[in-house]
Amino acid sequence: MAKPRLFVTRLLPDAVEERIRRDYDAILNPEDRPYTPDDLVRLAAGVDGILTTSAEKWPAEIIARLPERVRIIASFSVGYEHIDLEACRKRGIVATNTPDVLTEATADIAMLCLLGAARRAWEAETMLRQRRWERWKSTELLGLELSGRVLGIVGMGRIGLATARRARGFGMVIHYHNRRRLPADKEEGAVYHATLEELLPHCHFLSLNAPGGAETHHLLDARTIELLPQGAVVVNTARGTLIDDEALIAALRSGRLFAAGLDVFAGEPNIHPGYYDLPNCFLLPHIGSATIETRNAMGFRALDNLDAFFAGRPAPDALT
Ligand code: DGY
Repeated sequence: MAKPRLFVTRLLPDAVEERIRRDYDAILNPEDRPYTPDDLVRLAAGVDGILTTSAEKWPAEIIARLPERVRIIASFSVGYEHIDLEACRKRGIVATNTPDVLTEATADIAMLCLLGAARRAWEAETMLRQRRWERWKSTELLGLELSGRVLGIVGMGRIGLATARRARGFGMVIHYHNRRRLPADKEEGAVYHATLEELLPHCHFLSLNAPGGAETHHLLDARTIELLPQGAVVVNTARGTLIDDEALIAALRSGRLFAAGLDVFAGEPNIHPGYYDLPNCFLLPHIGSATIETRNAMGFRALDNLDAFFAGRPAPDALT
């Protein structure tokens, strides 16, 4: 039987590409070129499925232009706001994501952002590398302690819960806001707030773990930043669109907030230039899931979905 034809939009880890080459007749992207929307439509000609990442956007107008033959879009990501699911449903395209496999790696990066921001890691490292460290000083590079402080988590899904678990190990007290309250056995003592507005005044530290999309767009803006305690720390490992950059940058500049640790940005990789000059920002280039184990697992999970679909079984992580 002929192998299904697959368009793989980006370069993927070796072990994943090996499996793709074995099981699919694939159009790969060995140079890892970022494709324009027109490239995506052109390269999808004659394929049965697409393996994409969160870096490519699939709005309704692109979905509508895809050839009839395309029946599945499998994303190498847990987030799926880059795919218009409604447009997929209308076209009868199955969309899938890769939940579970990147939970632990991303929660690790949330803690790195939390610690990096609280303990001024970037400033400290930069001082050292620029050979500006004169001597040990009792008043230099003083940061904030995590122990005993409240970490507010917005979005208590898998990654939020894994972040809470880690933060408890640092002696933090967990509060959270989620669309639905978790059952008591999952809450593990975390304090639930029915609204974001109720949560924010409690948070010395705030970790954003909610999905992207219209519902969470700019949930942290000038108004909601004002609800945080003076000198709070903001961490975002979810999606850049959750934050109004202008408002966050102003609050970091004025000292209203102590620091931020950010792994994700609106418009990546073209992030708001205001961030570059802020010493109280610990910045990472969207590496939440960037471990060897996790990136392989994401690829295999995306392929498990494609394999099931082309074998005539339901895709395990079908979103449509
Ligand atoms: C995800 O899986 O959603 C990560 O942010 C990587 O795209």
